[in-house]
Amino acid sequence: QTADSLFIINNFAEKFFTNTLFNTDEGRDIGLSYFKERGFREATIEKFRLGYAPEARTAFTDEALKNQFNKELLLKTGLIVERNGSLQDNYRGRVIFPIHNQSGKVLGFGARILKANDKAPKYINTPENEIYVKSKILYGFYFARQAMDKADECLLVEGYTDVVSLHQAGIENVVASGGTSLTLDQLRLIKKITNNLTIIYDGDSAGVKAALRGLDLALEEGLNVKLVLIPDNEDPDSYVNKVGASAFIDFVQKNKKDFILFQLELALKDIGNDPVKKSELVNKIAESISRINKAEDFTKQQDYIKQSADILHIDEAGLHALVNKYIR
Ligand code: GTP
Ligand code: MN
Ligand code: MN
Ligand code: MN
Ligand code: MN
Repeated sequence: QTADSLFIINNFAEKFFTNTLFNTDEGRDIGLSYFKERGFREATIEKFRLGYAPEARTAFTDEALKNQFNKELLLKTGLIVERNGSLQDNYRGRVIFPIHNQSGKVLGFGARILKANDKAPKYINTPENEIYVKSKILYGFYFARQAMDKADECLLVEGYTDVVSLHQAGIENVVASGGTSLTLDQLRLIKKITNNLTIIYDGDSAGVKAALRGLDLALEEGLNVKLVLIPDNEDPDSYVNKVGASAFIDFVQKNKKDFILFQLELALKDIGNDPVKKSELVNKIAESISRINKAEDFTKQQDYIKQSADILHIDEAGLHALVNKYIR
């Protein structure tokens, strides 16, 4: 099967990249130094099977062809690309974050440039193929699963490095979405383990907007969604490295906001005193609340109505009636 072959090639590539990182001069001088400057310890690097792709044009290509891997399959993995009729490595002079499935098999890779610039993308990711389906992938799920179950909570961050750094700090119930809005498949993957989702996103606006887009889906799935924004141009990775694990956990506990209420406060700020827009917002929030319509979530729905009415300075009974209208 194609899928099996892709897994085999990816497994071979993962070994090639980790071997290059630890056992070549270039890997140690450039890749390992890079990770260590970011504060990643060797045990962490090994656990996540991080690697390094050398600068040479065909380092991986040569190894792969020597091992008789099929050209079409190699192209499918995105590890190799065709340029002017010849094959060459897609990831060159980049550090490598392998992406694993639920059983630890390699679905694909994220390859980070060493120094971010305007000419090249910061990360190159595996293209969509039979096994790498971005909308179904949560980076770190394989490593987070047990801790998620134990804590009965999933922390969702944006980036690979956020997952790795939080893990290293002992906060292991963490997965990353890659900064895009959450899909139904990703939410269902989380829901298999826990109903409590805490989204911890970079303070910058792009990330927040991406987070908000997943809201209604998450509610329909019956997840309890909280949101935490990391302040001042930091992200979970930089912030945990700055303040340490226990201060990070404190920050998250103190700044956890309910997702619906957060969205409401944000929208209210935008609207100001416009009565038409406010009435639109009231309808929108009533509709959102109406989606929590499972019997066991009745109390949750009542709480939302009360708190939303409070934030909006409107009558609770009136909001209640509106919510009921949307349920029917
Ligand atoms: P560092 O800069 O290494 O700390 O990474 P980061 O995770 O903090 O990056 P950022 O917050 O900018 O982006 C969050 C996530 O979005 C990354 O981990 C990637 O998964 C994804 N991403 C960021 N930049 C790119 C890009 O240029 N191309 C693609 N395909 N994905 C990206
Ligand atoms: Mn459980
Ligand atoms: Mn960002
Ligand atoms: Mn970062
Ligand atoms: Mn970030």
